[in-house]
Amino acid sequence: MIFEGALSMADAYFFLFFLLPLLLLVVLYFLVKPRPVKIPIKNRHVFITGGSSGIGLALAHRAAAEGARVSILARSPGKLEEARNAIGLATGIEVAVFAADVRDFEAVKRAVDEAGPIDVLLLNHGVFVALELEKMELSEVKFTMDVNLMGTLNLIKAALPAMKNRKDPLPASIALVSSQAGQVGIYGYVAYSASKFGLRGLAEALQQEVIADNIHVSLIFPPDTDTPGFAEENRRKPELTKIIASSSGSMKAEEVAQKALDGIKSGSFIVSCNLEGIALSLATAGLSPQRSFLMAFVEVVAAGILRIVALGMHWSWYGSIEKYHRERKGSTRSS
Ligand SMILES: NC(=O)c1ccc[n+]([C@@H]2O[C@H](COP(=O)([O-])OP(=O)(O)OC[C@H]3O[C@@H](n4cnc5c(N)ncnc54)[C@H](OP(=O)(O)O)[C@@H]3O)[C@@H](O)[C@H]2O)c1
Repeated sequence: MIFEGALSMADAYFFLFFLLPLLLLVVLYFLVKPRPVKIPIKNRHVFITGGSSGIGLALAHRAAAEGARVSILARSPGKLEEARNAIGLATGIEVAVFAADVRDFEAVKRAVDEAGPIDVLLLNHGVFVALELEKMELSEVKFTMDVNLMGTLNLIKAALPAMKNRKDPLPASIALVSSQAGQVGIYGYVAYSASKFGLRGLAEALQQEVIADNIHVSLIFPPDTDTPGFAEENRRKPELTKIIASSSGSMKAEEVAQKALDGIKSGSFIVSCNLEGIALSLATAGLSPQRSFLMAFVEVVAAGILRIVALGMHWSWYGSIEKYHRERKGSTRSS
């Protein structure tokens, strides 16, 4: 009897830890769609918005170093010129520069037409202000939405016809730079999160519309990254945003650019930049497409435990918010 019990226990372990996962892997292998794809960038035209500063500039450096033909677009002609010189010095490659505001569809269309058919459209431009909605002017909210969301739509509308009609049979890519604040709402990022969460819906729907044209969408989620834009944002950041975001470290723009470009080349829909980002992406996988059956396996297995981790994070964040307000009430009463 004891032997029989031990055997059935061994059978149960075998089923639970070997057969069941194996079965799940086989099912997921046939289930995941769209299928995996590789996007080459060597000798291809990579068009980067916001390519004159921070992450965009690092992306332009990387893409040029990997042999792509690079175009960059931003507003300030001076910063574009500086970027062109810096990339030329570092890589020996001359990038094409286009001065335009992404909010201006006609200007964007002229730039895209002049640049020629695009193989990888990398929409990285963005503005970010961390401030409570109550303290933000509506004009600032609208500016954030217009640049981050409408600007992205303007670029896609301008570039898509030529991308669809390209002669090159190789797969093409449209990559959007979101933010971890586009995966989870954080105190002080009402407008920014709204604009970056918007990119997710845009990307998920767009992927279905362009898949038949062999165009593949990537959504990049950088963490805090040392850039001129980030330094500017830190000058006004609310105390509570700092407290809540203090647990996550920051990355260098070059590291983020490398992760982003690798993700685009491997055709990943969701591109995370560090371990914390991977956990966040697993926790928020939801209904996003997943091309890798191995990552799909991890998503399925990790879903429950990551939900508990997420609830733990909210416990800590709301605890910080309660403590902050308690202390403020205490100090106003005593003064
Ligand atoms: N740094 C971070 O911590 C962080 C974290 C997560 C996500 N992100 C995202 O990463 C992207 C790049 O951020 P970054 O930190 O590298 O920013 P950055 O250093 O401020 O650079 C922003 C770039 O976008 C361009 N740009 C801004 N507004 C524009 C407009 N209306 N039209 C055309 N170009 C415009 C800027 O050039 P001009 O000013 O000359 O136009 C510049 O080239 C953004 O989408 C941001 O939301 C950043």
